[in-house]
Amino acid sequence: MGADLLIDGVSVARGELTVVRDVHLSCPAGKVTVLLGANGAGKTSLLDAVAGVIPVTGGTITLGGRAIHRLARDSRAGLGLSYVEQGRSIFGALTVEENLAVVAGRSTKIERAYELFPELKPRRKIAAQMLSGGEQQMLVLGRAIVGEPQVLLIDEMSQGLAPVLVKRLMPFVETAAKSGIAVLLVEQFAHMALQIGDRAYVLSVGSIVLQGDAKDLLNRPDEVRHAYFTGQKDSHGGGTAAANGASAPQQAEGRHP
Ligand SMILES: Nc1ncnc2c1ncn2[C@@H]1O[C@H](COP(=O)(O)OP(=O)(O)OP(=O)(O)O)[C@@H](O)[C@H]1O
Ligand SMILES: [Mg+2]
Repeated sequence: MGADLLIDGVSVARGELTVVRDVHLSCPAGKVTVLLGANGAGKTSLLDAVAGVIPVTGGTITLGGRAIHRLARDSRAGLGLSYVEQGRSIFGALTVEENLAVVAGRSTKIERAYELFPELKPRRKIAAQMLSGGEQQMLVLGRAIVGEPQVLLIDEMSQGLAPVLVKRLMPFVETAAKSGIAVLLVEQFAHMALQIGDRAYVLSVGSIVLQGDAKDLLNRPDEVRHAYFTGQKDSHGGGTAAANGASAPQQAEGRHP
C-alpha cells in the first residue's frame, strides 16, 4: 500500500485570483509531509486541487507516476487518494459503525478503525452526532483509513480541538505513514506536526517560502514563524499576513508560540 504523490509546479485559482502559485511538493509513500502556513495561505486550495475538488490552473500532479490532475474527484479517490477535509464531516444520523461501513463495506476493514481508535468501539451503535468533537475526528480519520488509501490528505484535523486531543490524534498520522501511506498533513499545531513529520513546507500567500527536514525545522522556530507571516526567510521582512489577521503557528503548549 502507498504510492508517491508529486505536486509539480501547481497553480490554483479561486475565481479570478491565483491563490496557489507554482508549488512543488513531494509526498513520498511511507512518510508524513507537513504543510504549514497562516490563514488564507492557500493550504486548503492546494489540497482541494490535489483531491480534484477544484481544477489546477497550471502544473501536474502524479500519483505513483500517473498523472491525475485532469481526472475527476471520484477517479482520484478510486486510485487511492483519500481526503480528510477541513471541518469535520460525518453522517450525524448514522451510527459510528454505519459511518465506517459506508467506506469499508467489509466488517474486517472496520476493525482496523477500532484498532487505531479503541475509543470508538464501545460507541459503535450510537449516532455519530452524539460523539464528542475529538471522537468525531477519530471517526473521520478512521473512515479515511478503512478505505485503504495510497495517499491521505489531512486538512487541520485539530480544528476546534484541545491540544491534548490533538496529541492523541498525531500518533495515528504516524501509524498511517508507517503502514506505507503517503500522508500530506496540513496543521496549525506546527510544533506537534513537525515532531511526527519527515519533510515540511511553509506556504505563504500561495508560494512555498521555506522547506526542510521536519526535525530540523523544529529547531528553527523563529525562521518558521517568520516564513509564516512574511513569506521571507530572513528576519527583515514586513508583516502583512500577520497584519491581515493570520494565525500564528500553534505550539503543543497552546495557540501562541
Ligand atoms: N470558495 C472560495 N471562493 C473564493 N475564494 C476563496 C474560497 N476559498 C478560499 N478562498 C480564498 O483563497 C485564499 C486561500 O484560501 P485557503 O482556504 O486555501 O487558505 P488556507 O491556507 O487553507 O487557510 P486556513 O488556514 O484559514 O484554512 C484566501 O484568500 C481565501 O480567501
Ligand atoms: Mg484551510
